[in-house]
Amino acid sequence: MSHIHIDIQGLSFAYTKNKPVLENINLHAGEHEAIGIVGANGAGKSTLLRLLVGLATDFGGSIRVEEIPVEKRTLPLIREKIGYVFQDSDNQLFMSTAYEDIAFAPRNYGLPEAEVERRVQSALEQVGIPHLRNKQLFTMSGGEKKLVSIAGILSLTPDIILMDEPSIALDPRNRRNLINLLNSFEHLKLIASHDLDLIWDTCSRTIILDKGTIVWDGPTEIALRNEKLLQEHGLELPLSLQRR
Ligand SMILES: Nc1ncnc2c1ncn2[C@@H]1O[C@H](COP(=O)(O)OP(=O)(O)OP(=O)(O)O)[C@@H](O)[C@H]1O
Ligand SMILES: [Mg+2]
Repeated sequence: MSHIHIDIQGLSFAYTKNKPVLENINLHAGEHEAIGIVGANGAGKSTLLRLLVGLATDFGGSIRVEEIPVEKRTLPLIREKIGYVFQDSDNQLFMSTAYEDIAFAPRNYGLPEAEVERRVQSALEQVGIPHLRNKQLFTMSGGEKKLVSIAGILSLTPDIILMDEPSIALDPRNRRNLINLLNSFEHLKLIASHDLDLIWDTCSRTIILDKGTIVWDGPTEIALRNEKLLQEHGLELPLSLQRR
């Protein structure tokens, strides 16, 4: 088995007792896969990503990231391997400026300041926001904060990328840049999104979640062309595939 992978077996989770949010999720994701996670509001997409990085560990079943079981004691190791972009940037960003926020993780790993500077600058350039370097986060627009969040995971070199609604609030040029960035990342990525055109452009495999269970798992070009399947689960064809 390849080095980089995620293995989920029999995963179940509830925020409140007797109200399951995820039920019996089984998923193997390999080293070079790009997997879109789609489904209606409340289907459980964000919850699934959160569990992968251990934001809650009281789940049933098992999650392994590169053979490491996700549990409280392994979280520092797991978070070294995974770059995670939250759905809501305000939950992710906590320093005062873009620079300070993006620099936080590499500094935390004890990298010398010159290397931190190099990485932050490179991450800012990759997402196209070098001009926001010293801007206060609380004065930024939603899209600007999303871009800072994405830059934040690029300042490390994660094995695995998880992104929750990464294109939310992005303008067309920044969205296209994000698609190119995702396509240039060669390791495992899981992307939860309502932007089915972004999934179409970046993910070869798609998982449809409905009320906490995986109802479909297979090639994106089959799932996202199947109007009936999508409609059954509260979705529509990607805009680029809709007949006008
Ligand atoms: N912190 C929480 N406490 C209690 N219930 C929660 C919490 N977060 C989410 N839920 C519930 O869990 C279910 C799944 O939510 P989740 O955020 O995973 O869905 P989602 O598929 O990401 O939806 P969206 O498309 O709206 O982002 C929903 O019914 C939601 O109300
Ligand atoms: Mg969500």
